[in-house]
Amino acid sequence: MIQPATIGRLAAFTISMSLGLMACTGGGEAPMTTATPSAPDPNDAAVRVLNASPYSIRADAELLDYVNSTAQAAYAANCQGCHGADMQGAPGIPNLVDYDWLWGVTGFESNDAEPVMAIQQTLLYGVRNTECPDIEDVSYYGGCADTRYSEMPGYATLGYSAEQINDLVEKVIDLSGGDADAEAVARSANDWPACTECHGEDGFGYKPYGGPDLTDNVSLYGGDRDTLTSVITAGRLGQCPPWGKELDAATIKSLAVYIWNTASGL
Ligand code: HEC
Ligand code: HEC
Repeated sequence: MIQPATIGRLAAFTISMSLGLMACTGGGEAPMTTATPSAPDPNDAAVRVLNASPYSIRADAELLDYVNSTAQAAYAANCQGCHGADMQGAPGIPNLVDYDWLWGVTGFESNDAEPVMAIQQTLLYGVRNTECPDIEDVSYYGGCADTRYSEMPGYATLGYSAEQINDLVEKVIDLSGGDADAEAVARSANDWPACTECHGEDGFGYKPYGGPDLTDNVSLYGGDRDTLTSVITAGRLGQCPPWGKELDAATIKSLAVYIWNTASGL
């Protein structure tokens, strides 16, 4: 039985997050400073970007120019090494502009502020960030509070036989419309329910857990039998660094808006 363990871990993580929240509201130990910060200049482009919706940024040539140039410079300096100069990723590193999202963005949002917020969360806290510099004990549950977190389990470790894993590989090939061994797909019916928590009953994925859609022609790690066997046997825990400490708020927002606009063809 693997699900109770997984669910237990997620539940523990959720509890730890709630406790963290309680600790925050009860705390209030911000260091006292004597200097009064000067009020932000409302005409400053960075301040206007922070206050503007993605829609109004697109409608304002000056703001859009600020967002594009800020994002492009930050991308070249911090992201390009992994996600590629063309933003199209590499095996294990997602394409950022194909409108195929792992985290948060479902495609059913009613406006484009919601997906931009979802992308911002990924950028601020990262994916599977375990460094947790400020609250070390939270990392015990696998990741820092607010990071995107889930685990693609390694099914060999969970006791699945090579035959069971082979059948699941055929199931995944079948889901993506490939030429699968029908008998193996039928045999996988007992084990497939273990996968649906994160990939959905019909294999369309589950964005809160970063579970990829297994039915489309976009593959994070590769859709050939060898790669699928390796992923299901050993599991995968891809990581994106957190940027909330490295980059300022206007740069994070610019990156999120820029990624969203580019991916959506806006
Ligand atoms: C060390 C390599 C690395 C760097 C540097 C990096 N990323 Fe990532 N990023 C990843 C990986 C790997 C993932 C996929 C994590 C997973 O498996 O869910 C990812 C995921 C993402 C996602 C989520 C995509 C989705 O479909 O939901 C976004 C957005 C993103 N990165 C943006 C950025 C931006 C912007 C930067 C630079 C500020 C950046 N990344 C820097 C490796 C990196
Ligand atoms: C607890 C959540 C969870 C469960 C349960 C789970 N997966 Fe995953 N799976 C993920 C996540 C998250 C990823 C992406 C890993 C990453 O981003 O590094 C993934 C990735 C994959 C991939 C690679 C997809 C790609 O685009 O490259 C395959 C194939 C896959 N899972 C199959 C399965 C099968 C088959 C099962 C059941 C036996 C299963 N998964 C169970 C969360 C899960």
